[in-house]
Order: sequence, then structure tokens, then C-alpha cells
Amino acid sequence: MGFAKFKGCFVLVFCVGLLVGSVSGIGVNWGTQSSHPLPPSTVVKMLKDNGIQKVKLFDADSDILDALKKSGIQVMVGIPNDMLYTLANSVQAAEKWVSKNISAHVSSGGVDIRYIAVGNEPFLSTYNGTFESTTLPALQNIQSALIKSGLGNQVKVTVPMNADVYLSSSDKPSDGDFRPDIHDLMLQIVKFLSQNNAPFTVNIYPFISLYLDANFPVDFAFFNGFQTPINDNGRIYDNVLDANHDTLVWALQKNGFGNLPIIVGEIGWPTDGNRNANIQYAQRFNQGFMSRFLAGKGTPIRPGPIDAYLFSLIDEDSKSIQPGNFERHWGMFYFDGKPKYLLSLGTRTNGLVGASGVSYLPKKWCVLKPSANLNSDQVAPSVSYACQNADCTSLGYETSCGGLDVRGNLSYAFNSYYQVNDQIDSACKFPGLSVVTDNDPSTPNCKFIIMIQTDSAYYFRNWRRIWSLPIMVFVFLFLNVM
Ligand SMILES: *[C@@H]1O[C@H](CO)[C@@H](O)[C@H](O)[C@H]1NC(C)=O
Ligand SMILES: *[C@@H]1O[C@H](CO)[C@@H](O)[C@H](O)[C@H]1NC(C)=O
Ligand SMILES: *[C@@H]1O[C@H](CO)[C@@H](O)[C@H](O)[C@H]1NC(C)=O
Repeated sequence: MGFAKFKGCFVLVFCVGLLVGSVSGIGVNWGTQSSHPLPPSTVVKMLKDNGIQKVKLFDADSDILDALKKSGIQVMVGIPNDMLYTLANSVQAAEKWVSKNISAHVSSGGVDIRYIAVGNEPFLSTYNGTFESTTLPALQNIQSALIKSGLGNQVKVTVPMNADVYLSSSDKPSDGDFRPDIHDLMLQIVKFLSQNNAPFTVNIYPFISLYLDANFPVDFAFFNGFQTPINDNGRIYDNVLDANHDTLVWALQKNGFGNLPIIVGEIGWPTDGNRNANIQYAQRFNQGFMSRFLAGKGTPIRPGPIDAYLFSLIDEDSKSIQPGNFERHWGMFYFDGKPKYLLSLGTRTNGLVGASGVSYLPKKWCVLKPSANLNSDQVAPSVSYACQNADCTSLGYETSCGGLDVRGNLSYAFNSYYQVNDQIDSACKFPGLSVVTDNDPSTPNCKFIIMIQTDSAYYFRNWRRIWSLPIMVFVFLFLNVM
């Protein structure tokens, strides 16, 4: 028994090395749910300037893939959940997807595509099982299409899973297994990945552990040697990342797939929108993670190098805030490509390199008029409208702009709306309340942004929304009065 176990471990280490290949540097997630995304070529230059060799995308945007051409950067392309149904039910749709979104870029364009992420956290409990019947068939159809296109060895499929597809019945990783309601489905997927030499991908969020549980020990979320670690039959767990990761390893092992390679698809920490989402914690977490990563240190069960993608590269101001206001603040860089804090990715000694050649709109802000009457019944609908159509996630208890007074709050909301709408005049017409200024209203902690310039097509796409501001405020007010 003892020997068999040792042999198993030896084979395991060997296989992992073989399947993953050399784990080449840190990866990053590049999401694009932004009102004003940086041009793809600017982002690719940022990746190169920071020595980042791997990128994970959430779809197959051809402008982005074109910008990655011959960049030397390895790419994981994504398939959004809303395409799973079609791809599951039509072999032709899957073949067309692979042909247009993979083959075309690999062969003619020289994009180094290594993985296809089929769906994104499809078994999140908030989806109520919507994607449970389509994820595996979509995975199978994409894999068949890859083989048919001759790319079966070069490009691997995977499914980025939320970490709640498995759990432990105690605080010990060795009590880990797949979630009972999807246990059989997970096994079928794991088996399919294994048969096709494909990795298991999991997103692990220590921040969410802290966010969801007020009693969660803060230091256990980081990597500074938590004082009361978990002892799991001699394996010591002093941080939740290791414990979570190895719970998955146990779940795989228990079901006969102990040597399946694992990719950490998302790992990171947000900087705003919640009391635990701040620059200090984000830097502590990401630098703590990077130091381990650079030292080639894995987890107690898999001590070798980890394959991981930081979440994320740049803030995205259009992301849904249903999970929380922090959702729009996961970037290592702000929306405009400015680094948020000192972070060493190991490729350069003096921190992150920001985006170059970014052009901004003029230095103008929309703020509350000094003479504005705060008792006006226009105030509530105006701020509500502004925040619904722009981004007020930096306002609120213990966030970066949480210290503003009522007037500051209103100005922040108005400015956010004005900037998201490219400083167009009609976006600073909150009835009797707003005025454009060239005095920067920012405070040391709270930045009132100036938007970046994007292509002019944006104005035409959004003219209706901008034009309708005064009408919407009026309607809102009217409904409230009723
Ligand atoms: C390729 O990917 C894009 C972006 O995800 C998607 O909109 C498009 O439908 C895909 N093409 C095909 C042929 O499926
Ligand atoms: C899931 O179910 C809940 C409660 O039944 C519902 O409120 C929610 O809208 C559903 N979500 C989805 C994505 O279907
Ligand atoms: C400012 O706005 C935030 C978010 O809407 C709110 O939570 C906070 O109480 C406001 N602060 C003041 C002083 O009105």
C-alpha cells in the first residue's frame, strides 16, 4: 500500500509536468465589459511591457485576437454561457465556431491559441441549473470540431468552474468531494477532460470567503503564515487558497482522477466597492500570491509550480454588480491602464507598466452647483438615474469615496454619468442641480475620473440614451410622486 501510494505520487508529478508542459509565467484575465475599453493594441502592448505571456479571454473577439497576432502571447479563448445551448445542440454550430474563432486565427493570423474555455462558471448556484444540461454536450461538440479541424493536439478544451462545484464536509481538504447535486455531471466532465488530455480549470476567490462570512479569519485569506493553521493528517494549511485548491485535488483523487492537471483560471483581489476591497489588501494578496508563484511553490498536495491567471488586468465599469459593488474593481490597472499599486510580476523590478499613448477627454467635470437646493425634489431621481446609467460603486460605506458628504456624493454621481457619456453637454443637465467645472473635485482618497477617448462610433450608438436624460429624470420623478 505504502509503495503503491508513493508510486502514484511519482507518476502524478510526472504526468502533471507532461500534460501542462512548462508552466510559463503568470497569466492574466482580459475582460471587456467596459463602457470605454482601451484599444486592443494598447492592451497587448501593456501585456508585453509587463512580461505577461499568457492571457485568458471571455469570448473570441476578432479585434482582440488580431491584436494578439504574432505577439508571442499564449491565449485561452472563451465561449460565453449564452452560446452553450446552440453549441450543445448543433455539431455544425460547433464546427463553425471553431473554424471562425480558432482555426482562422491560428493558421492565417498566427495567434497562439492553447485553450478554449467552454462556458464560464456555468454551474454557479445563481444560475439555477440553467447550463447543467448543455455544458458537457457543448464541450464534446467543440472537442470533436477541434479534432476534425486538425487542432486536437494543439488546442485543449476546459471549463472554468466556480469553486463551489466541490466542497468539504469539514474544514479539512481531505473531506472534499464534488457538490452532491452535480456530482455525477462533474464526474462525466472530469472523465471527458481526462480522456482528452485537457486540464480542469477552477476560479478561487479568498476575497469572496471574507466577503460572505463576517467571521472568516482575515489572515487566512492571505499568505503570511496564519497563526492557527489547519492540520490535515500532517499537511498544514495556513491559507484558504491552498485549502480550497487541495479540496479539489481530493475530490478528483477520490473519484479516480488524482492526476488531472489543474489551472487556476481566476485569482485576485478587488480594490474598491467593499470594506475589504482596498488597495492595501489587493496588493498584499496579489504580491503574496506572486511571490509564491515566482518561487515555483504550489500547495501541500501539489507542491510544484501552479498554472494561474490573475483576475484581472483592467477594471470593467459595465460589469453586473449583482454579486457586489466590488465587481467593477478587480483590475491591477484602472480603466485607463494606470497601475493601481506596486506589484512585482517577476519580470521587471520596479512594478507594473501602465498603458502608453492613452488620450483623455478635456479636464472638465460635472458637479453639483454650489447654489443648488438640496431639498429640491429633483435630487433623488437625478442621482438615481446617474448611478443606474454610470458607475457609483466607489460611493458607500468604507469605499474610496465613502468619506464624501451629501454634496460630494451628488457631484460624484453626476460626474460619473457625464464622463461615461463622453462629456457631452446634455449629460450635465440635471435640472437646476449640475454645472460643468474645470476645478478637479477629487479628494486624496476619491478620484473624480476624466474619461478616455474612444472611437467616435460610440457617440452614435449612444445618442438616444444621452438625449433622453431630462425626460427620464422627469418620468422617474413623476412615477415617484404617484
Ligand atoms: C465567434 O465568437 C464571437 C465572440 O464570442 C461570437 O459572437 C461569434 O458568434 C462566434 N462565431 C461563430 C461562427 O460561432
Ligand atoms: C433563480 O431562481 C431564483 C429564485 O427562484 C430567481 O429569483 C432567479 O431570478 C433565478 N435566476 C436565474 C438566472 O434564473
Ligand atoms: C453617499 O452615497 C452613498 C451611496 O449611495 C450612501 O451610502 C451614503 O450614505 C451617502 N453619503 C452621504 C453623506 O449622503
